[in-house]
Amino acid sequence: MARILEDLFQASRAQGWAVGQATMAQMGLDAAMLKWTEVPTRRGGPALSTLRPVDQAEAEPNSLSARYGKGAQPLHTDGAHLPHPPDVVILSCDTTSTTPTRLWPRNRYGRAIGGLPQFVHHGVFLISSGNDSFFATATERGHLRYDPGCMIPCDARARQSVRYFEERESSASEHQWSEPGQVLLIDNRRVLHARASATHEPEREIRRLSFHLNREAS
Ligand SMILES: [Fe+2]
Repeated sequence: MARILEDLFQASRAQGWAVGQATMAQMGLDAAMLKWTEVPTRRGGPALSTLRPVDQAEAEPNSLSARYGKGAQPLHTDGAHLPHPPDVVILSCDTTSTTPTRLWPRNRYGRAIGGLPQFVHHGVFLISSGNDSFFATATERGHLRYDPGCMIPCDARARQSVRYFEERESSASEHQWSEPGQVLLIDNRRVLHARASATHEPEREIRRLSFHLNREAS
């Protein structure tokens, strides 16, 4: 029984994320039982990655760290450069962190998605992904794809969308990593997230696993 992950996933349906106590090993085992597929967010990289604040100079090209360093990140979805971004992102912190993870929308039942302005649905972005670059909008069949680190606005509506998401930052919720062993499950197609500024906490370590759901089962 993949109980812990199933419970977390069910709990995330209300507001798009859920918090629990588990190990990443347990999350990986549960996901395998649910036939979820691990998604490496960097080509050729591992599905399980350790995220540490890095300066701009040492960051991966096209990553948010390359632009923002250890400072506050803008709201984004993970894997926005991929043709099929992960459905679920799980973050975990073995210890505690004084750098919160910001989450939007905070409205329950995902109402904010249905209420997105028209320009967000229609603005066209170039998704910068080397030889595999492509064009896309910030929503597709009700799913969000947004990362200002790799998405270049191509028209006025896309530029409006960038401003719209910037303005949402003031209404984001914050998850505090206040207890050791917490996991945070994020519905990556419905919720934007961001790391707050970590300039005061360069030793922060968060681990991340990303998945595609088993669509046949749902
Ligand atoms: Fe992220």
